[in-house]
Amino acid sequence: MLILLALLGGLGWGQFVGDSACADCHRNIVKRYGATTMSKEGVLCENCHGEARMHAKGAGRLEVPTALEPVERDAVCAQCHFRGAGRVARAGRDVRRFRAGQTLTRYAASFVFVDAPEEGGGAVEELAASRCKQKAGADLWCGSCHDSHSGAVDRSACLGCHAAKQCGRGKDCSGCHMAGGDHRIGRRKTARRAGGWQVRPFTAADGGARELGLQYYGLWQKSGDGRQREEAARLLTGLLNKDAAVGRALENLKKAGTKKR
Ligand code: HEC
Ligand code: HEC
Ligand code: HEC
Ligand code: HEC
Ligand code: HEC
Ligand code: HEC
Repeated sequence: MLILLALLGGLGWGQFVGDSACADCHRNIVKRYGATTMSKEGVLCENCHGEARMHAKGAGRLEVPTALEPVERDAVCAQCHFRGAGRVARAGRDVRRFRAGQTLTRYAASFVFVDAPEEGGGAVEELAASRCKQKAGADLWCGSCHDSHSGAVDRSACLGCHAAKQCGRGKDCSGCHMAGGDHRIGRRKTARRAGGWQVRPFTAADGGARELGLQYYGLWQKSGDGRQREEAARLLTGLLNKDAAVGRALENLKKAGTKKR
């Protein structure tokens, strides 16, 4: 645990005071949250509420996710629960500096596969690919079913929007429609597909030729797929502004281009 927390500190969470600083005034929440998987994995109150050094001294307010605009609210969970095809830091930005209340796309661009946008393994992109979520819009979010402080899952949440008789196949809605924690919430269980080689921005705000190019570059490094290499080279070569990360990528792409594959 200590090692994990030390690591997280090194990753940009060093400004956090930690959950013990909340115990005097929020005893019940601290106790309940402390028993959850997330807490045991090292996720702090401040990951969802913002830096609390001043607040814990009795000054300053924190963010409450449900009081935020949907984009910022969803970013609180997406900072950790998006996987997709990958994520690329924007020039000069470090996504570990993201704080609750901010927009995540300021720090990084997130990408999903074009062919199977839900293939990545994160609840965020899975839910976004579901027709249930697309139709429900901002009303449906992680917190509709998950209680952040207790780790409990509200299995009756579906009935806030659906009448049981709309389906009529039994009470355990998520047992059938979300079997195995499948957040693609569909009419029936559908097989997983490979994501293909092409990617697109997760949302309109995730765009950027530099970031898309670097995403293809990262994917190519893992897959060796020549189509991804070509896309990376095309996008990155076309940039007017080539920062250090782009320069390094172009150099490696060039080296690979001269080798026979
Ligand atoms: C000295 C007592 C005290 C400590 C220590 C403290 N809080 Fe609070 N906190 C309060 C009070 C009082 C409120 C209610 C403020 C209001 O409603 O005006 C509050 C409200 C909040 C809220 C709701 C948003 C807001 O700002 O009103 C959050 C979230 C929160 N605290 C989180 C934390 C976290 C996380 C910690 C530990 C890092 C912490 N608090 C430490 C007293 C404290
Ligand atoms: C995974 C994200 C997450 C973590 C971690 C988290 N919270 Fe919260 N917290 C929320 C959300 C979401 C709400 C709003 C709940 C709602 O309105 O239904 C909230 C609400 C609150 C509130 C104000 C509303 C209330 O219930 O009075 C306080 C105070 C608070 N949290 C304190 C804490 C403290 C202290 C910790 C750590 C021990 C903590 N939270 C950890 C997500 C989180
Ligand atoms: C700072 C990173 C971080 C943030 C922010 C975060 N999580 Fe998590 N979450 C984790 C980690 C790490 C785990 C444990 C590994 C896993 O199950 O993926 C986890 C596990 C979970 C689990 C499974 C826990 C269990 O008891 O089995 C749920 C549900 C969850 N998170 C929901 C949320 C929701 C909802 C939010 C936003 C309100 C959120 N998380 C925000 C990192 C985070
Ligand atoms: C409509 C309800 C619902 C919504 C919305 C929802 N979940 Fe879940 N989630 C569930 C159910 C049901 C499970 C399975 C729990 C179980 O089997 O105990 C689950 C499981 C999980 C798990 C653990 C299993 C896994 O897939 O790794 C995580 C992590 C998680 N959810 C995160 C999230 C996040 C992040 C969001 C928002 C993007 C979210 N969930 C939105 C209902 C929901
Ligand atoms: C915030 C409201 C909301 C919640 C909560 C919600 N849904 Fe939905 N869901 C919708 C809407 C709106 C539609 C689209 C209805 C339509 O097209 O007639 C939908 C569609 C669906 C569909 C059809 C999907 C398809 O591919 O055609 C299924 C299945 C479904 N929901 C199951 C669930 C289950 C199971 C839960 C709980 C785990 C749930 N929903 C929770 C609003 C919600
Ligand atoms: C035993 C498994 C099972 C259970 C339990 C279950 N469903 Fe279904 N659900 C299905 C199947 C199968 C379909 C039909 C898929 C098809 O033929 O398109 C369906 C269809 C649906 C649809 C789409 C119906 C339409 O008219 O568009 C919704 C919405 C839905 N279920 C919601 C729910 C809700 C809410 C619950 C909990 C009250 C629930 N389901 C419980 C298996 C189940």
